[in-house]
This record gives sequence, C-alpha cells and structure tokens, in this order.
Amino acid sequence: MAEKTIQLLSMVPILRAAEESALQGKPAAVGAFNVNFFTQAVGILNGLKKAQGPGIIQASRGANKFQGGPDKISAMLLAAMKKTGHHLPVALHLDHGDEEQAKICIEKGFSSVMIDASKLELPENIALTKKIVEIAHGRGISVEGEYGKLAGVEEDIVYESTTYGDPFLVPYFFNETKADALAVAYGTSHGPNKGSKGGVEKLAISIMQKSYDGMKAYGQNRDHFLVSHGSSTVPKELVAEINQYGGNVKDAQGIPLHKIQEAVVAGVRKINIDTDLRLGITATFRKYFSEHKGVEDKSPDVLKPIKKSLDEQPGAIDPRDYLKTIDIELLRKDPAGTDLEEVMVLIEKRISDHVAMLVEKFGSAGLAGKVGQA
Ligand code: G3H
Ligand code: 13P
Ligand code: ZN
Repeated sequence: MAEKTIQLLSMVPILRAAEESALQGKPAAVGAFNVNFFTQAVGILNGLKKAQGPGIIQASRGANKFQGGPDKISAMLLAAMKKTGHHLPVALHLDHGDEEQAKICIEKGFSSVMIDASKLELPENIALTKKIVEIAHGRGISVEGEYGKLAGVEEDIVYESTTYGDPFLVPYFFNETKADALAVAYGTSHGPNKGSKGGVEKLAISIMQKSYDGMKAYGQNRDHFLVSHGSSTVPKELVAEINQYGGNVKDAQGIPLHKIQEAVVAGVRKINIDTDLRLGITATFRKYFSEHKGVEDKSPDVLKPIKKSLDEQPGAIDPRDYLKTIDIELLRKDPAGTDLEEVMVLIEKRISDHVAMLVEKFGSAGLAGKVGQA
C-alpha cells in the first residue's frame, strides 16, 4: 500500500475549525507548542493524537539557531511525524520571526510564519507585516503578526510593562495587512515568572473580547484569528520537582487555566505554550539523574556533560542551556539505541500527557477531523 504523504498545513483551516466550533456554542482554541528537539516534537504529536486535536508546532529564532536552521527543524518534524504515524492536521510555524527569518522559513518548509514587528510604531508594523503576507500567501503559507508589547522577554528585548493592544484597531490591522492571525498584548508575559498572581492583575481579557466583537462586526472572524502568547500555566508540581532535585527556580507563577479558558470564550483561537514544556523536560532530567545515580559515568560524551551543566545552572529551565553541551545531531533524531533513550522515553510521556490535558481544556480535543470542512 502507498504511504500516506505527510503535509504540513497553513494555520488557517486549523484555526477556522476552532472558530466554527465556537460559533456552534463550543468555544475552542488550538495549542501552539514550541519545539527544540526531536523527542519534544514526538511528545507534542502524541499528545495531540491522544486528544485527537489539530495542532501548531512552532520554532522560535532561537530554536532554529539551536538546530542549525529552519530546514533542520522542518526535517526533524517530518521525521517525528513519520515515526509516530501522525496524520492529524499540523502546522509548522515560525514563532516571533523577524523579516529575515520569516523569508528563510517560507523557503525552508514551514507552513506558517510569525512576523513580530511589535517593537515598531503601528504604521511600520503594519507595513512590514503586509510585506511578509504578500510573500507568504502566494505560497499558501499563513502569517501571524503582533500588536502591542508583552511585559518580560520578547526575543532579545525586555519590556518592563505591557503595552496593551487597542482592540478598536485590531480589525484595522487585519484589514490593512491581510494577516491571518494576530497576537494582541493583553497582559500575559513570556517565561515562568508571570507576576504575583500569575499576572492576573494585569490581564485584560476584555481586550480580546472587544477585538473579537470588532472582527465579527466586520465579518473577519472566519479568516482571521486572535492569538494568546505567554500562556503557560507553570504547574506548581513541576517547579517543586525541579527544586527538589537540585534546581532553584524562584517566584514561578503561570496563568491559571480558567483564565486561559475565559480568553478562549472571549475569542482567542491560538494559545502559545513553551515554558510548561521546558519545565517538564528539566524536571524529568533532574529526577532521572537523581534516581539513576552514576548513570552519567557510563556516558562521558552525552549524559555527563548534560548533568554537569545542570549542576552548574540550578536556575536553568531552558533545555537548550544544558543540552547545548552535546552533539546536536543526537537531538535531531530518534534517540532509540543512544544514551539518551531512557530519559527521552520519560520526557516524551511527560510532554504528551501535558499537551493532551491542555488540548482538552482549550476545547480543541476531537477537532482534528473537522479541519478543512468549513
Ligand atoms: O518567545 C517565546 C518563546 O518561549 C520562545 O522562546 O525565543 O527562547 O526560543 P525562545
Ligand atoms: P510561555 O512562556 O508562557 O510558554 O509563552 C510561550 C509563547 O508565547 C511563545 O511565543
Ligand atoms: Zn510569544
């Protein structure tokens, strides 16, 4: 029998399935999960499969650099889809791209790109976003823009406080740029320290509600979609596990799930999650080394440098900070038969369980079969 071809989709039919669900009274959003290495991709795919959800797998500029370029990332995702026999709808998206990276990713197998021009003034942001849309749409590739600034780290820049997007300008942004999706700053922030109450005091879900109402009024809502960045829940038990096994992660606080669900009811259709997966991976490595005393001595080129690096960086949660010590080839392929196999099996399970749970809570479980129907 001929093998089914694996095709990466634009975000549009995927997000439209969530919008159709909402219009039928079941608010839904699709999870967009960041990826940096092969097993992380397998875990995300298996989580999507458990929940029968469509999904977006995204790589930041940092992830592309870590893996040696967007072509390496797209090949890695296709290999992970082949290994898992994944035929549910998936997009491969560039997260927080600049002009240069967006253009490269369009050439190198991504099915969607973000152009984050939010640091520019609105007219310049619109002009650059529009330019990328013109290039991408000609190839069936979707585009996400960003409007407003999230507090905290946005790629290389640290913003002290949120500059909220003006909801009344959201339909205008879509109309001018023809972008498919827009990240509107509404009080979330990237990373594990989202504020004393998970940033709830800064959250302005009404911005999403007003944006969505405006989009509906202009008939934009079936083709254009709102995105929530900085949406990790930062599970307390993962932080506790990291700290129990030698880590030192302080003041960690995520967005409570019920707040994310409120944002979905308000009209958000794409939800970005990176930090939760970083925490799960780091907790798993730390626990593994603690429960398998001396395992690193049998693996001088792989497990030993990872353990040493973790020991030296108790505050690290980004896996790239300690995985950069090993040959990147090992992190781009199936770890079966390598020194990483045992720990990667545990990581895959952690990630797939968490992704499946989030997809359920976001309301997009079971929507995979609906993609492309409207
Ligand atoms: O921008 C936020 C995402 O968590 C990606 O982070 O740029 O460190 O890969 P990164
Ligand atoms: P978190 O840091 O909350 O996971 O946000 C991820 C994100 O917005 C990626 O673009
Ligand atoms: Zn983001």
